[in-house]
Amino acid sequence: MGSKDSINISSLPKHIAIIMDGNGRWAEEKGKDRLFGHLNGVESVREVVEGAAELGVQYLTLYAFSTENWDRPLEEVSGLMELLADTIRKEVPTLNKNNIKLHVIGDINMLPVNAKNQLEEAIRETSSNSGLNLIMALSYSSRWEIVDTVKRIAKDVKDGIMQIEDIDQDSFHDKLVTGAFPDPELMIRTSGEYRISNFLLYQLAYAELVFTNTLWPDFRKEHLYEAIVDYQKRERRFGKTKQQII
Ligand code: IPE
Ligand code: IPE
Ligand code: MG
Repeated sequence: MGSKDSINISSLPKHIAIIMDGNGRWAEEKGKDRLFGHLNGVESVREVVEGAAELGVQYLTLYAFSTENWDRPLEEVSGLMELLADTIRKEVPTLNKNNIKLHVIGDINMLPVNAKNQLEEAIRETSSNSGLNLIMALSYSSRWEIVDTVKRIAKDVKDGIMQIEDIDQDSFHDKLVTGAFPDPELMIRTSGEYRISNFLLYQLAYAELVFTNTLWPDFRKEHLYEAIVDYQKRERRFGKTKQQII
């Protein structure tokens, strides 16, 4: 029996977030350059998007490029940006066919103009879709997001649009760039690294974390199913006692 059959569809996570890591090591193992790993990671993205959409997951956030990744060698950064623009442009018909709505979180003003334009066009062209929400974290870091949110709230208070008393966990959450999305219940990181690397620090407060040694370019639907099955075995207590939640 495959893992898919073990998934309880009635208690699927609404929102899954993935740190797609290990492209470079995957390529290096094969004696290729790092970009070859990124190129092969695209197929894994297709697999998880399709897998999540088929199951009926509502939100899928993929960490594709962090603020810190800008400090990588220029050749890798420009290769990644080209791959990004190219992939997005090519995937729009498939996104539309599968009723998938694209969103982006991150400081997209940092992206090269071409990549930014392709992205904005893809967001527009998929905006009326009502199935899976695919959220790409690009030029994203959680500390950037939190500081940016604080600045926007401070401005609203200064402009009299918001009062200090209006700031609470709900209004703060709504002001984050992820404000329209529920918090992820499940976060998966590939490649055997056990860290968050500046990803959704606020939103992951109570997420279940699944770490796998699989390198991102080897990640397939079956790995997604396994992570969901693992998630469904966990007892989520949110600070309460076991007795309180049963
Ligand atoms: C993840 O793979 C993709 C990005 C961060 C853009 P890496 O490029 O980090 O691959 P490793 O971790 O060096 O193997
Ligand atoms: C995290 O991976 C960012 C993405 C997957 C986009 P990194 O490879 O940049 O993270 P570190 O440097 O290992 O923490
Ligand atoms: Mg990495």
